[in-house]
Formats: sequence, C-alpha cells, structure tokens
Amino acid sequence: MNRRPIIAGNWKMNTSLDEALALARGVREQTESVDSIERVLIPPFPWILAVHGEVSGSGITVGAQNCYMEQSGAFTGEVSPAMLAPHCSYVVLGHSERRHVLGETDDQVAAKVTAAHSSGLSVILCVGETLEEREAGRAEQIVSQQLRAGLGNVSWGMTQSIVIAYEPVWAIGTGVAASTQDAQDMAAFVRSTLANVFDQKTANSVRIQYGGSVKGDNAAELLGCPDVDGALVGGASLNADDFGEIIRAAAAQVN
Ligand code: PGA
Repeated sequence: MNRRPIIAGNWKMNTSLDEALALARGVREQTESVDSIERVLIPPFPWILAVHGEVSGSGITVGAQNCYMEQSGAFTGEVSPAMLAPHCSYVVLGHSERRHVLGETDDQVAAKVTAAHSSGLSVILCVGETLEEREAGRAEQIVSQQLRAGLGNVSWGMTQSIVIAYEPVWAIGTGVAASTQDAQDMAAFVRSTLANVFDQKTANSVRIQYGGSVKGDNAAELLGCPDVDGALVGGASLNADDFGEIIRAAAAQVN
C-alpha cells in the first residue's frame, strides 16, 4: 500500500507574526521541490490566514491546533471547523497537551472529529500513553481506548481524511524520542486496531505519524519504520533548517 508520507509542524503557542511568516517562508524555500512528502504547517490560530497566504502555491498546506465541536453559536473563545475550513486542510485533535494540560476528554475529541469532518477538514488524531501508563504495562490499552473513542463516529468513508499521530506523552518536548522499536511496535498496534475497527484494507491505507522529540538526526530511522508514515513535529518545526532536514529525511526514503 502506497501511503504518502506526511510531515506536520505543530508550532503550539509559539511564534510572533513576523516569526511565523519567516518560518513559513523558510520551510517553503527549504522544501521547494519535495512533492513526494505532504508538508503541513500548524500555526497558532491568529497566524493561520497569514501563513496560508505565505505558502500558497507551494504545495504546503496549513492546519489548526484545535477546533470546537459546534459550527457556530454562543461559545465564547472557541473557533469552529467551519471558520477554519477555508484556510486549513487539517486540524489536530486530541493532542496530549489538550488532553492532559487542558482536560479534554475522549468524548470531546470524538465530537470534534465529527464536526471537523462535516466541515471538510482532515483530522490528525493524536493518541499516546503517559510514562506512568507505559510503566504499568498499559500503553496499548490506553492507545486502543483513545483510538476507539476518537474514531467512534467515524464511518468507513471518512477514514481517508484521518491521520493518526502516535505520540507517547513522555517523548513530547523531552528530547527523548521513542526507540525505533517502540515507535514501530505501537504504529503496528495502531494499524491492527484500525483493522479491528474498520477492516485490513482500510487500516493499510491510513497514515500513521510518530510524534515526540523528532529531530533532524533521528528522523531517518523513525521514518524508516514500516508502519510509520510521517511525523508530527513540535520543537524542531520552529526552525526552518531543522524542519527542512526532517522533510528531506522523509523524502530520501521515498526516492
Ligand atoms: P516535540 O512535540 O517534537 O517538541 O516533542 C511533538 C508534539 O507535541 O506534537
């Protein structure tokens, strides 16, 4: 099954407007001819329009870091999928910082997945266990539960607009990435769970990213795992050279 690798840069609550534009320009310049890799920049909400303009015509697309589960109404401070859809291709849902810092539940994630899909946004659905859960031998149980809940309302026909990001919480922002063995094992587990929820053919077609301390110097080996189809990158996506290096590492595996 040919799955086009997808490298996405989650800028989180970082960058000024000037930095965001410079970063977008830098990534554009660095990866001008890298069409084999889907490249996604995920800026903070207020910079989405400007970044979208900066990368237009380059093949780079823009994503949002979150959305609400309703399309409009009295929800002060929230942003709906319908508002994002003209400017974004993707929305990240269920990121560990939203789950663990901001208290987002599986049910909320599932409702957001449905709302995003009905507005035509593709979803990067994040799943991953904490260190405590891993040490207690519960990593697969947690990932399975987050996956099944997040995909609860997803029908077979919607699966092509879903990307799963396996991001062990203990690897995010720590500088300690999962080993290639752990990344591959869990990506394979995610794929087998998808096969149980949908079917094997569907599972084989869904892209699975690894996320958590991906850098230029570990990207090649992580992206070399047979079930890893890309990366969701935080810290290293804030530097155009570093992010460009990761994208080129992905492209080298395709070419
Ligand atoms: P990191 O973040 O690359 O800084 O570990 C990854 C993420 O939060 O998606």
